[in-house]
Amino acid sequence: MDIVVEVHKKTAARLAADMVQNGMVVGLGTGSTATYMIERLGERIAEGLEVLGIPTSEDSARKARQAGIQLTTFAAHRHLDLAIDGADEVQRGPLNLVKGLGGALVREKIVAQAARKFVVIVDGNKPVDHLGQRTAIPVEVIPFGWESTADQLSQCGAKSLHPRMDRAGHLFVSDNGNMILDCNFGPIEKPDFLASQIDSIVGVVEHGLFLNMASEVLVATEQGVERWE
Ligand code: 5RP
Repeated sequence: MDIVVEVHKKTAARLAADMVQNGMVVGLGTGSTATYMIERLGERIAEGLEVLGIPTSEDSARKARQAGIQLTTFAAHRHLDLAIDGADEVQRGPLNLVKGLGGALVREKIVAQAARKFVVIVDGNKPVDHLGQRTAIPVEVIPFGWESTADQLSQCGAKSLHPRMDRAGHLFVSDNGNMILDCNFGPIEKPDFLASQIDSIVGVVEHGLFLNMASEVLVATEQGVERWE
C-alpha cells in the first residue's frame, strides 16, 4: 500500500462526502476510495447529518452499516440525489471512466444512472489519455456459455481476456451471481462504438465503460484536488 496515494484517495473522498447534504439519498460506491467516503459520511452522521444510502455492493453495504449509515433500496427511493464512487481510469473532457476492477460494476452503473449527480473520486494514478491504456475493461457475463460470450468479446477487439479469479484462486462470483471477464483492448480510440458493440452481445450483463455519466471528477494529487466538470 502506497501511503501517499492513500492520503490522496482519502482527501478526494472526504471532499465528496462533505458535499452530502441533510436529507439526501446517496449512492455509496465500492473500493478503497469509496470506503474512505463511507467512513467520512459515518463521522458526519455521528455529528447529526441525516442521510439514506444505497450501496453498490454487499461489501459497501457492510461498511456503511458499520459506519452507522441507514440503508434504503430502489423500492423505496427510485432516484438518488448524489452518487459517489471511485474509478480505475478517468478520461478528462468527456469525463469517461473505466470502473469495475472491484467487481461491482453492474450495481455501480445502476446507482450512477439513477443519481441526479455522480461524483467520482480518484487519486493521481487514475487519469489517462485513452480508456483501456492501463487497465482491462471488466465485463460481467452470465456463467452459461461464457466461453462463447468470450469469443464474441474477442471479435470486438479484445487482444486477451481472462475470467476474474478470487483471492483463493476460484472463479470470482459477482454479487449478482455472475462472472467477470477482464478484457484487454489496449488504448480505446472510440469508446462509444466499443461500448455499443459489447452491449449487443447476448450473455453480457454490463461492462465497465462508464461513458458520459460522471457529473464531476475529483482528482487528488500532491498539488491538491483538481475538480473536472
Ligand atoms: C469497484 C470499482 C472501484 O470504484 C474502482 O475499482 C476503484 O477502486 P479503488 O478506489 O480501490 O482504486 O469500480 O467495482
